[in-house]
Amino acid sequence: MAELVVALDYPDGASALAMARSLRGTAGWVKVGLELFTAQGPAVVEPLKKLGFKVFLDMKFFDIPNTVLGAARSAALLGVDMVTIHALGGERMARAAMEGCAAGALPGARPPLVMAVTMLTSMGPGDLPVDGAPAPSRMALDLAVKAKQYGVNGVVCSGLEVADVKGKCGDGFLCLTPGIRLASAAADDQRRVVTPGQAVRFGSDFLVVGRPITGAVIPADAARTMLEEMRSA
Ligand code: C5P
Repeated sequence: MAELVVALDYPDGASALAMARSLRGTAGWVKVGLELFTAQGPAVVEPLKKLGFKVFLDMKFFDIPNTVLGAARSAALLGVDMVTIHALGGERMARAAMEGCAAGALPGARPPLVMAVTMLTSMGPGDLPVDGAPAPSRMALDLAVKAKQYGVNGVVCSGLEVADVKGKCGDGFLCLTPGIRLASAAADDQRRVVTPGQAVRFGSDFLVVGRPITGAVIPADAARTMLEEMRSA
C-alpha cells in the first residue's frame, strides 16, 4: 500500500505541530521542507517523531559531495526517515549522500532512505532554463535511470512518470510523487499533476500532499478522502 505524506509547509513550528496533531490517525508520514526547517531548525523533528510520524526531511541537497555527505549525516543523526538530494548532482554526490546517511544512522535504526529529485513537479514544458531541453517527463525518466545506477533508494517524480520509471528501474526502486490533486481541485503552482488514484495505479510508493490537506477546512477529513481514493485505486 502506498503511503500518504503530508507536507507541513509552515513558517513556524507551532503551526506545523498543531497540524500534525490534528492529522494523527490518518497519514503515517509528514514532510519537513525548506520553509519549516529554515524557520524552526532541527528541533522540529523530535516532537513530530514523538507524535508517531515518520519524518521526511525534504531539503533537496545539491552541493559538492563532501558537503552533501555531512548534511546527510547530520540529517540521519536527527532520526529522520527519508531525505532528498537532486539527481542532477551526479553519481559522486549521490553516493556521498548514501554514505552520510549510513554514517549518521542511529544505533539499531535503518539509515534514512535517499530519494533523488528528478524534475520538480512544478515544471512543465518550456520551464527548464535550457534551450532545446527535452520535455520534463523525458528528463525525469533519464535522471531516474541514472539515479538507480547511483544506488539511491528511489526518486521524486510526477505520477505521470512512475510507470515508466518502474518499467526501467524495477518495482523495488521507490517513487515519491508530489503534485497530487483531486480531480476537481486547482493545481496551484504545480504543473505535472495526477489524482491520488492515478498515482497509486501508476505504482507510486509515497504520495506527498500539502495544500489540498493543510488548506482544507478539516484537514483530517481531507487526508481521509485522499487515503480512501488511494485504497480503492
Ligand atoms: O501543496 P502541494 O501539495 O503542492 O505541496 C507539494 C509538496 O511537495 C511541497 O512541500 C513541495 O516542496 C514538495 N515537492 C514538490 N515537487 C518536488 C519535490 C517536492 O512539489 N519535485
